[in-house]
Amino acid sequence: MFLKNCWYVAALASEVGRKPLGRIFLNEPVVMFRTEAGAPVALEDRCSHRNYPLHKGRLAGDAIECGYHGLTFDCAGNCVKVPGQAQIPERGRIRKYPLLERWGWIWIWMGDPALAADSAPVDFHWLDDPAWGAKSEYLYIKSDYRLIIDNLLDLSHLTFVHPGTIGSAANVEKAQIRNDLKDDSVTVTRWLIDIAPPPTYARAGFKGNIDRWQIMRFEPPAFVNLYAGATDTGTGAPEGRRQGGIGLRNLDAITPETESTSHYFWAIAQDRAPRDAAATEAMFQEIHRTFVEDWEVLETQQRWNELNAGAPTININSDAAPIHARRILDRLIGEEAGRVQRRKAS
Ligand code: FES
Ligand SMILES: [Fe+2]
Repeated sequence: MFLKNCWYVAALASEVGRKPLGRIFLNEPVVMFRTEAGAPVALEDRCSHRNYPLHKGRLAGDAIECGYHGLTFDCAGNCVKVPGQAQIPERGRIRKYPLLERWGWIWIWMGDPALAADSAPVDFHWLDDPAWGAKSEYLYIKSDYRLIIDNLLDLSHLTFVHPGTIGSAANVEKAQIRNDLKDDSVTVTRWLIDIAPPPTYARAGFKGNIDRWQIMRFEPPAFVNLYAGATDTGTGAPEGRRQGGIGLRNLDAITPETESTSHYFWAIAQDRAPRDAAATEAMFQEIHRTFVEDWEVLETQQRWNELNAGAPTININSDAAPIHARRILDRLIGEEAGRVQRRKAS
């Protein structure tokens, strides 16, 4: 079960153009394209004639023509043409999904379209804030989306999965951790005071010991905003004096494809040299490397979870935040399902 009435990320804006793009969200096939004027459109990716996927068809102006027998649908989802036949069945209409284009990403509403206008996407303005230099990427991960949230909320794994970039022994041994577990969010604050810089920070120019912070905020259904960074040790970073250091925003949006596969949109933004594209690219490459490492872990974990379904597992202290995030998700999904049931019954 997935939370439906919320904005998910559907694509990087650059991925959607005049060639239909098919993607599955929450087990529903969706086709996306842009009109001739450039507006993004999302329709059910299913021809109402014989279920052929519309993303295999082609655009004709602002309409999409099925690649099997040529039925054509306008960008509101109405069937507007049946080749060789004058009569167009009204029941041929397909579903249209609300979309938003914001900060270089395209967001989709998979739930009740009437509720979309009253809801805003999670704040990821760092993606195009002039005070930050940002770069995004899309990854397709064969794992339950909740495993990705677990990964992002428990950074003790950096020591063991990312020793060549952002991990070091001090990352677990010296971490001062505070969890703020709220009804609708989870924030984990980790401070690493007076530690040797791990490889990524050494490459960014830190010579001596650093004070390093990692502040992860989870918002349902699957967004994590990770504010990380470092200054030279003893210069007041914990009290808020972070000039001269480096700040990084790692923005993560995970959209379930199915129960066991996920679309993973992520970006890195850096505030040290916001207009320096080479500095952004260098940091993107550092963090990209860590994502490739996580990718391998997540897909392996998914497979091993399936092979070991029902086997007993234990929890440790660093699971508190991921466990709370799942509680929030379960509660919201349950509440949403309850509202749908009550609407059906009345
Ligand atoms: S399946 Fe699309 S036109 Fe027949
Ligand atoms: Fe990681």
